[in-house]
Amino acid sequence: MCGIVGYIGTKNSKEVLINCLKKLEYRGYDSAGIALKNERETQIIKSIGKIINLEDKLNSNNLITANIGIAHTRWSTHGKANETNAHPHCVGKVTLVHNGIIENATTIRNELIDSGITFSSETDTEVVAALLNKYYDGDAISTINKTITRLTGSYALGILFEDDNNLYAIRKDSPLVIGIGEKEYFIASDITAIINYTNNYILLDDDEIVTLSNDNIEISKAGTIINKEILTTDLKSEEDNKGEYDHYMLKEIMEEPILLENLFQKYITNFSLLPDLSDYEEIHIVACGSALYAGMIGKVLLEEKANIKVICETASEYRYKKTVYDRKTLVILISQSGETADTIASMRKVNKQNIDTLAIVNVKTSTMARESKFKLFIEAGVEIAVATTKAYLLQVATLSLLSYKAIINKSPVTNSTLIKEIKILPELLKEILTKREIYQKIAQVIYNNEHAFFIGRKMDYALSLEGSLKLKEISYIHSEAYQAGELKHGTISLINDNIPVIAIISDSTIKEKTLSNIEEIKSRGAKIILISNEEITDYDLTITIPKVNEILQPLLIAPCLQLIAYEVAKLRECDIDKPRNLAKSVTVE
Ligand code: F6R
Repeated sequence: MCGIVGYIGTKNSKEVLINCLKKLEYRGYDSAGIALKNERETQIIKSIGKIINLEDKLNSNNLITANIGIAHTRWSTHGKANETNAHPHCVGKVTLVHNGIIENATTIRNELIDSGITFSSETDTEVVAALLNKYYDGDAISTINKTITRLTGSYALGILFEDDNNLYAIRKDSPLVIGIGEKEYFIASDITAIINYTNNYILLDDDEIVTLSNDNIEISKAGTIINKEILTTDLKSEEDNKGEYDHYMLKEIMEEPILLENLFQKYITNFSLLPDLSDYEEIHIVACGSALYAGMIGKVLLEEKANIKVICETASEYRYKKTVYDRKTLVILISQSGETADTIASMRKVNKQNIDTLAIVNVKTSTMARESKFKLFIEAGVEIAVATTKAYLLQVATLSLLSYKAIINKSPVTNSTLIKEIKILPELLKEILTKREIYQKIAQVIYNNEHAFFIGRKMDYALSLEGSLKLKEISYIHSEAYQAGELKHGTISLINDNIPVIAIISDSTIKEKTLSNIEEIKSRGAKIILISNEEITDYDLTITIPKVNEILQPLLIAPCLQLIAYEVAKLRECDIDKPRNLAKSVTVE
């Protein structure tokens, strides 16, 4: 999604802004732009495509000397990806960058057109710039306050006024941090953009306006000055740090064993950090995309192993659904970024009804980490590849740990064997990851196809969903996941010669059932690729993984699926770390 950065200080703002913008590339974008400002003028340069295009344009222009500026990567919502629609937008004395969606932009646009204002872009952002310009009376704060009373929707704004040498910012339902340096300040959509310059930051809350000059910061809300705590992050820059790997995705998959070890260490040695789910009669798990599929594994584990009733639902539906909380309920919200608009909205809906919320998140500075009642951090570090791998795995691992606590609360006897398996699991995973040839061999079978299927039952179905998502998002092969028993109710008509079907069998109690489903598909010509924790050699290609306790088993299967998707995308020469149309942090509905 769109990324914002802003700078005011003593350095060359172009250099700083481009460096910071590059750190936001992972969020996904289709165009970029920058506004440089000094006491006399403001210069705007934009380009479509990658930041390198913007840099080329900057290098071929006569740039003003500037120590103030704002910059933006745009993931289009209103209007095509072209230079006119790219940010910054300038109307009269106002130049601004925006992340979010202004829902009443059309109404305001029509009203401004009626009053004689013309627009050059199709964006909701230009509407905000025009409104600010209309209200601007020389007092930036009152102008911003007046403008936001007219806006519905979400926004993080970085604003410059032509006759004023401050940088202003405000947010509502869109993330924004303020970086505090030595005689310099930053604004950014997320902290990773600025950690090369400072580790100190302030988190803005909704409708707080920050005024930055190069030696002062002032934050106000509705005209009242407020003091905010300066926080420090221990995040480290991941810049140019793919190490020996061709892609961040591969690097992040290879980090999984050590991250798992650290996560287990953190929670097993301090068990009280994990909430006791047996306090609840019902659990709802709410998330989007891969986080939702991690939640579906959690549902199987908690229901089957800990006998807790669990409902798992996509956040974009849950937020609008009528939900009756007639039993003691905990709502678990899962999100890597902690900024996914639908998941935040679901959390706020639940918070309003005084129902307990638990956020399983990665980004510690995120809105969800701040606003949920309880939180568990998955400790994945920065995830750069747009398609999640290590964060998804650690979400699953956190749910495994929650199930583990629920199980041993009921039957302490299982504790010692499970603990042993937890200890050796990272080592088992390391071994699985080293067998690169098998994933490359499987990729050879898949990469020339335009369709693929994943099948499994129960937990293996939840894993299939993630395997299928990973394949389609990075390799652009159309892929579907099916419950193994469901395929024959229609979709089997799509099975023809050599179509790859990846089947997962890890639950021995239903192994024979899935094997029958595989036979139905095989007899219609499909190429079967089997992932199982039992030695079954009747198929074209097989990955056999070690058998471990069910609550740990998905942690050995998911990485195989990630590596299959990776190798296929590599053979298809796709832009693996930044797949087309995707955004890392989905901050709009
Ligand atoms: C897929 C992927 C997405 C995210 C989803 C939720 O690889 O990364 O499906 O899982 O957009 O994002 P978070 O976890 O940040 O809420």
